[in-house]
Amino acid sequence: MIKTELCDMLGIKYPIIQAGMGPFSTNDLCVAAANAGCLGNISTFGMGIGQLAWPSLIESLFGKGTTEELVRQSIQRIKELTRESQGIFGINCLVAQEIFDYAEKIIGATLKEIKSDPEVAERLRVIITSAGNPAPWTERIKESGVKWFHVVPSVYHAQKAEKAGVDLVIASGHEGGGHIAWNPVHTMVLLPEIVKSVKVPVIGAGGFCDGASLAAALSLGAVGVQMGTRFIATKESDFVQMWKDQVIKAGDRDSLVVRGLAGPARALKTKFALEVADATIKKIPRIYLGEDVGIDNEIAAMESEGLSRIYDAPDKPEDSLLFGGEVSGRISSIPTVKELIEEVMSEAGEIIRNLPEKFLV
Ligand SMILES: Cc1cc2nc3c(=O)[nH]c(=O)nc-3n(C[C@H](O)[C@H](O)[C@H](O)COP(=O)(O)O)c2cc1C
Repeated sequence: MIKTELCDMLGIKYPIIQAGMGPFSTNDLCVAAANAGCLGNISTFGMGIGQLAWPSLIESLFGKGTTEELVRQSIQRIKELTRESQGIFGINCLVAQEIFDYAEKIIGATLKEIKSDPEVAERLRVIITSAGNPAPWTERIKESGVKWFHVVPSVYHAQKAEKAGVDLVIASGHEGGGHIAWNPVHTMVLLPEIVKSVKVPVIGAGGFCDGASLAAALSLGAVGVQMGTRFIATKESDFVQMWKDQVIKAGDRDSLVVRGLAGPARALKTKFALEVADATIKKIPRIYLGEDVGIDNEIAAMESEGLSRIYDAPDKPEDSLLFGGEVSGRISSIPTVKELIEEVMSEAGEIIRNLPEKFLV
């Protein structure tokens, strides 16, 4: 059996985190992941700024309500549905400067639930901040006693997060699905370098999907992995069937980087994603040189259209913008979350056990 510092820190059985994947809902996925013994996560991007940007889509995913109400409802529902297994879960919140007010609402509502509901305090054990500066949140999060992880794309950001007081950093490589950093540093280089550069424990994200990649992360010094794309293609995941099918259909060259909803993002290579990439190259080519070039309204409108079509025209995947990682090329099944986790853990255990016999002389 594999047990790491992450398991001890959060009281979870397996060192696997189900990634936050806004603006979409991961509420059902969070329940399944927590019930299966890893860390489930609530995604809140849609409950915040997403409500303004894509009102009807967000209402269809989460229902009606203010940001605070949606956060509260999600926490309470997940608490109920994970009671029997005493599952542990967390909440992901983007803290980019441009959406600071929304982050305040989301983190504020989360801390309020933790304070007022002992069962939430017992089982909602971590806030995972991402896509911004963690420093303004130190006081509020630390004084609540909840664990605090922050997602980082570079050694510089990892050291900044450590200085801000986070309990753990998540090293997020450029091969990951969804939003990635301006400057491309992939997991193989990023993860061991961050492990060397900070004292807090480190989780690897970007490119993980099975026992072999979990064993690799542990070898590189991580205490576990965060998986996004792999969890999209599971039976319980909240993502539409077409999206799951496209993940398992994708080959190893079937992702690309476009100007995403909040910076560069990796998407599956659909016909429409190629059009967005084309527009990105024509209108804001400096994005590919690692420059923060801000938003272009025309591209933002294209992205919204590509998102809407996921739900409005699910029979035409080529017309949609489907975020997903390079790792799609390694995914070929849609198991239940429990089956997935158990397979990952048994494969990783077997690989680690066999390594000495295979290689040590
Ligand atoms: C559809 C999608 C949406 C995402 N949205 C978010 C988000 O709201 N917040 C965040 O911190 N990361 C987000 N990510 C990144 C994931 O949290 C995770 O770090 C990433 O998927 C890991 O790489 P992988 O896809 O190779 O597993 C998203 C990823 C995907 C695929």
